[in-house]
Amino acid sequence: MNFRKRTHNCGELNPTAIGKIVTLNGWVARIRDLGGLYFIDLRDRYGITQLKISPDKKEIYEIALKLRNEFVISATGKVIRRESINPNIPTGEIEIDVDELQVLNESEVLPFNIEEDVKASEELRLKYRYLDLRRRVMTKNLTIRSEVYYIVHDYFKRYNFIEVETPILMKSTPEGARDYLVPSRIHHGKFYALPQSPQTYKQILMVAGLDRYVQICKCFRDEDLRADRQPEFTQIDVEMSFITQEDIFTISEGLFKEIWKKILNIDIKIPFRRFTYDEVINLYGSDKPDLRIRNDLTIKELTEIFGKSNFNIFKNAIESGELIAGIRLKNSPEKKIEITRRVIDGYTEFVKKVGFGGLIYLKIDETGKISSPILKYLSEEEINSLLKKFAIENGDIIFILTGDRNKVLTTLGLLRNKIAEDFKLIDESGFEFIWITDFPLLKYNEEENKFEGEHHPFTSPRADHIHLLDSRDRKTLESIRAVCYDLVLNGNEIGSGSIRIHKPDVQKKIFEIIGLSHEEAEKKFGFLTEAFKYGAPPHGGIAFGYDRIIAILCGLKSIKDVIAFPKTVSATSLMDDCPSYVDDKQLKELGIKIEKKK
Ligand code: AMO
Repeated sequence: MNFRKRTHNCGELNPTAIGKIVTLNGWVARIRDLGGLYFIDLRDRYGITQLKISPDKKEIYEIALKLRNEFVISATGKVIRRESINPNIPTGEIEIDVDELQVLNESEVLPFNIEEDVKASEELRLKYRYLDLRRRVMTKNLTIRSEVYYIVHDYFKRYNFIEVETPILMKSTPEGARDYLVPSRIHHGKFYALPQSPQTYKQILMVAGLDRYVQICKCFRDEDLRADRQPEFTQIDVEMSFITQEDIFTISEGLFKEIWKKILNIDIKIPFRRFTYDEVINLYGSDKPDLRIRNDLTIKELTEIFGKSNFNIFKNAIESGELIAGIRLKNSPEKKIEITRRVIDGYTEFVKKVGFGGLIYLKIDETGKISSPILKYLSEEEINSLLKKFAIENGDIIFILTGDRNKVLTTLGLLRNKIAEDFKLIDESGFEFIWITDFPLLKYNEEENKFEGEHHPFTSPRADHIHLLDSRDRKTLESIRAVCYDLVLNGNEIGSGSIRIHKPDVQKKIFEIIGLSHEEAEKKFGFLTEAFKYGAPPHGGIAFGYDRIIAILCGLKSIKDVIAFPKTVSATSLMDDCPSYVDDKQLKELGIKIEKKK
């Protein structure tokens, strides 16, 4: 089909072009009929330009009458000044007085209107993703995503990194989540796995002497999905040789400084603040605390204060070695926080849902009067110490929980987030990057009654903790800290990495602790340990969650809106109906028989 090709796009014309004859190609976004005079908003990726079609141009007017939303057209005409200026768009001062109009393609009636404030359900948007992506905000998200690719490539090139593609069909080496498996046709009964991350490959690339590796890569994990989790997602994957944790931090901080400057024109402060894992768990009850929360809301241990308490709940807790801890919600100087009975009941329900019997509170009103259901059980000394510990002022409230240490801390952490959300205590415009260091090396899996790597089994223990690997005492093993770090931004884990083990004897000990026999370790990771026999340099790395970073840059909570073709929470793609059944012939070739689900 012959068509008149555009001379300009729909986002670039302004008054300097007035008088010029131009051609635009695009989609009909909106049609207005003002008493015979036709105005059309023409849209493409770059913007919107208004077309004017008057009834005295009979031939094109006839065509215009047949136009419907999302028809694809070519329009040629003179750029003229608009009578009513639209200050909201860059082309808002001009319009095209159309002389030639050509319909390049028609569109059926749309399943939903393409508008910024979209009313369609998420299912419909995902099914007709190409229509959803025509919305300006979605195009913008993908544009930012693309801009960041360029920044990342350019940044790492400057620092001498080499980009290497690693295989998508690999050996199944489970890393925490379930693998996606791909059956082999040639080797019946054998499977490839899709990489949960290129972890083993990037370490082998260090043995290969590549020194500095980076890759923007796809990872695949068959795990339960949430707003910040997709079954296939993107990482900026980094590995470096002859480095320490400090080098990884410096390279990472430089990257984020550059991305934030170039995309948002914001100067973020580096170096980022650092906390150890133990510090954040004890202070915020979370290994990814949101430090934008303005109210102090930090956790304090109270076990010491109530050491000799006559109050049964505290007494029992102390006797059974449990934790008593609390958080204080500070009333703002404007006294905006109103803690009503309903609010307290709501928080009590909240902690009951995670298995606590109740939530203890102590409220100090504006006159300094204390109210608490447990007041009568506490001594004056206990109350005074408590008020002092939290530096309580009139209007504040303390919430207290007792029970298993981890459970108390994580629940107070969740309560902290909930309170912050309820009372709008989060500075939404801020960016709080923090490093969390010194993660535990091992975590005990209660269900399977065995230890597993907290990060992955190639993570190096801290040098001063290596000797503890010889212990078989659970508490001692749990106390081992690793050279393992997370990058957290606004309460989201956006990156994670570690210094790796490069000594076979240390690796062997870890495999033993996590219950991998020599044979099993050989079968699963033999290729890696084999490679490490031939001069493995000290090395370490990190991987950043690309989708999460872009979502935060775009001010979004869900990563779906920064992925062109995401999956639903049940891991399906509604647009192309995937996963789908395959032909019996295909299954036969693979030697696979599908059993009916009972
Ligand atoms: P990890 O498993 O912590 O580390 O992943 C690194 C980062 O990837 C992001 N991420 C996800 N994003 C979206 N959907 C998911 N399902 C998902 N899972 C993880 C997170 C996370 O911080 N090989 C190691 C890294 C290393 O040690 O170098 C790894 O993959 O932002």
